[in-house]
Amino acid sequence: MRISIFICFILSISGVSLERYNIFDIWTNLFRPPQNENEGFIPDYNPKNGQEYDFIVVGAGSAGCVVANRLSEVPQWKVLLLESGGNENYFSDIPIFAPFLSITPMNWGYTSEPEQKACRDLRGHVCYLPRGKVLGGSSVLNFLIYQRGHPDDYNDWVRMGNDGWSYEEVLPYFKKSENIKIQELKNSTYHGLGGYLDIDHAPYSSSLNTAFREAGEELGYEWNDPNGEKLIGFSKPQATMRNGKRCSSSKAFLEPIRFRRNLKVSKHSTVTRIIIDPFTNIAKGVEFIKNNKRRKVYARREVILSAGSIGSAQLLMLSGVGPKEHLRELGINNLVNLPVGYNLQDHVTFSGNAFIVNASGLCINDITAASPSSAAAYMMGDGPLTIPGGAAGLAFTQTEFARDLAPGRPDIELVMGAGSLAGDLLGIIRSMLGITDNWYREVYGSLPLEDRQRSFSLNPILIRPRSVGRVTLRSSNFSDQPKIHPNYFEHPDDLQAMKEGVRFAQRVINTNGFQRFGTRLHSAPFPNCEGFLFNSDEYWECAIMQTSITLDHQVGTCKMGPKSDPTAVVSPRLLVHGMQRLRVVDASVIPRIPASHTHAPVVMIAEKASDLIKEDWEGSI
Ligand SMILES: Cc1cc2nc3c(=O)[nH]c(=O)nc-3n(C[C@H](O)[C@H](O)[C@H](O)COP(=O)(O)OP(=O)(O)OC[C@H]3O[C@@H](n4cnc5c(N)ncnc54)[C@H](O)[C@@H]3O)c2cc1C
Ligand SMILES: *[C@@H]1O[C@H](CO)[C@@H](O)[C@H](O)[C@H]1NC(C)=O
Ligand SMILES: *[C@@H]1O[C@H](CO)[C@@H](O)[C@H](O)[C@H]1NC(C)=O
Ligand SMILES: *[C@@H]1O[C@H](CO)[C@@H](O)[C@H](O)[C@H]1NC(C)=O
Repeated sequence: MRISIFICFILSISGVSLERYNIFDIWTNLFRPPQNENEGFIPDYNPKNGQEYDFIVVGAGSAGCVVANRLSEVPQWKVLLLESGGNENYFSDIPIFAPFLSITPMNWGYTSEPEQKACRDLRGHVCYLPRGKVLGGSSVLNFLIYQRGHPDDYNDWVRMGNDGWSYEEVLPYFKKSENIKIQELKNSTYHGLGGYLDIDHAPYSSSLNTAFREAGEELGYEWNDPNGEKLIGFSKPQATMRNGKRCSSSKAFLEPIRFRRNLKVSKHSTVTRIIIDPFTNIAKGVEFIKNNKRRKVYARREVILSAGSIGSAQLLMLSGVGPKEHLRELGINNLVNLPVGYNLQDHVTFSGNAFIVNASGLCINDITAASPSSAAAYMMGDGPLTIPGGAAGLAFTQTEFARDLAPGRPDIELVMGAGSLAGDLLGIIRSMLGITDNWYREVYGSLPLEDRQRSFSLNPILIRPRSVGRVTLRSSNFSDQPKIHPNYFEHPDDLQAMKEGVRFAQRVINTNGFQRFGTRLHSAPFPNCEGFLFNSDEYWECAIMQTSITLDHQVGTCKMGPKSDPTAVVSPRLLVHGMQRLRVVDASVIPRIPASHTHAPVVMIAEKASDLIKEDWEGSI
C-alpha cells in the first residue's frame, strides 16, 4: 500500500498527470530546490513568428545544451535553443530511479520494428527504445555512467577520413567539460577540473562492491580508472553526478547560464521541418509547434540539429535531405541524395539473468529503494538511491572471441547491477523492458521471495557490435514515429561474442570474492528455451535472443565522413554534405560506435563542434 502511494506520487511529479507545462513548472520548482547558485529553473521564452537569430539549435539534449552554451559565449551571437520537452524534476534527479523514467512522458516512446533475433520475449518481438524528451534529453533518462571508450576508437574515425578526431585531438575536449570530483583522479592527466560537468562516484557502497573488486583481482584484472590509461579492468562506475544527484547536460551546461541575455530557450517546442531554399540548398530556419501553434524562425548563420540519432535523421529526411528512393516513395521532394538513417549502431545487453546471494544487505530491490531510510539517506546525498541506474560495478574484457582486436581493446563490458529482474516485485522494470508478466512468473515465480530480494545481475554488453541497422520514415507526417530497425545479432559473430560475455560473468561469480556469499545463478530455464540443455551454448543463444535489451546507445544515422565517402552524411566539420549553413551535432554523426557508453563521447563531440563553428565564423562576428 505504502509503496503504491509512493509510486503514484513519483509518477505524478514526473509529469504523467501534469501535461500542462506551466503547472509542471510550478511542481518542479517546488520539488527540486537548487543546490547552489549555478542551479535553477531555466526561463521559458516564446519566440515570435518570423523572428531571426544567429544560430538555431534544435534539441536540448546531451549535445544541444553544450552547443547552446558555447555559442552564446560570443556576446554578439543571438542563439535560440528549441526543445520539445519540459523541465527535469526531483524524481529524475534520483540516480537509481533512472529505469523508471522510461515510463514517463519524458520519453519519446519509440519502439523498434519487429526484430528477428532479439527481444523475442518482449511484447510483439519489438524492442523498446527510450529517448529523452526533456531539457537535458537522454542525459536525463540515462544511467549516468561516464565512459569515453578506447583511444583507438577515435583513431579509427581518423582512419575513416575524419581529420581532427584522433584521441590526442579529442582528449582536450573530454577534459574541457569535466569537473572531476573523485579525489584520487584530480591529479590525473586524463581528467579535467573546473568544467561544467561534475563526474563522481556514487557515495554508497556495499559488500557487493568489495566482492566485485576481489573477483576482478582474482581473475587477474586491475582495479582501474576506465577513463585513464587502460580501459580493460574492473572499476566502480564514474557518473555524471553532483552531491549524489543526477548532473544532466541541462543542469551542467544550461542552468549556470540561464540568464545570459543572448541565449533564449523555448521549451515544449517541437520542430517539424527545416526551412531550406530549394535553389541554393541553404538552411534558412525551422518550423516548429508550440502551444498548438505553428511558427517559423530564421537563422542568419546556421541551423544546428542536435535532436539525437532518431530525431536528427527524421528531421533531415522530412525536409528533403536523405535517400532519394525512400523519399520519393513517400512523396517528399528530394533536395540532396544522402544516406541518412543508414549506419544505425547500438549496444545491446543481456539482462535476464539473476544471481542469488545467501546474505542480506548486499542487494537492492524496489522495496529497499522505496524505504524511508533510503529516502532519508538520499536527502543527505548518500544511500542506495545514489547508485547510478543501479549499476554498482563495471568491467571491460577482451574475450577469446575477439581475435581481430589489438590487445587492450575490449569487446565485452560487464555491468553489475545492485539488483536484478528477479527483484522487480512491483513489475516496473518489467514494463519498462517490455517483459511479459508470464515470462517473469515462469522464470522467477518459483523463487522464494527472500531470494528474489537477495539477487543482483551481471549484464554483459556487446561493445563492438558488427550488426548495423537503419532508421526510415513511416510517412511524410512528423507525428508518425520513424521506423527503427536495429537488426541486433544479425551478424552471427555478435551472438557468439555475447555468449562469451555470459561465460565471463560466470567466471566472475565463481571467484572466492562472490562464493563467500554462496552466490549462484538462478537456473530456471527461459520459456521456449527449455528444449536446450541448461547452460549449454545453444541454451544461452536462445536466452540472449529473448531478453537482450538496448543500452540506448543508438548512434551513426548521420555518419561523419569526407565528401568522397558515399556512406557519409556530414563532413568532418559536421556540415551536411551538399547543403549550406546546416550542421548536425549529436550522437548521429558517430561513424563507428566507441566501446563506451555514449553520453561522454556526445558531449565531447559538441564541445569540439562548438570550436569548429567558432572557427568557421571567425572574422565575421
Ligand atoms: C535509458 C537510457 C540509458 C542510457 N544510459 C547511458 C549511460 O548510463 N551512460 C551513457 O554514457 N549513455 C547512456 N545513454 C545514452 C546517452 O544518454 C545518449 O547517447 C546521449 O544522451 C545522446 O545525446 P544526443 O544529444 O545525441 O541526443 P539526446 O540527448 O537524446 O537529445 C536530443 C534532444 O532533442 C530533442 N528533440 C528531438 N527531436 C526534436 C524535435 N523535432 N524538436 C525539438 N526537439 C527535439 C529531444 O527531446 C532531446 O531533448 C542512455 C540513454 C538512455 C535513453
Ligand atoms: C598528485 O601527483 C603528485 C605528483 O605526481 C603526487 O605526489 C600526489 O600524491 C598526487 N596526489 C594525489 C591526490 O593523487
Ligand atoms: C546460507 O547461509 C546459512 C547461514 O550462514 C547456512 O546455514 C546455509 O547453509 C546457507 N545456504 C546456502 C544455500 O548456501
Ligand atoms: C499527422 O498525424 C497526426 C497523428 O496521427 C494527425 O492527427 C494529423 O492529422 C496528420 N497530419 C496530416 C497532415 O496528415
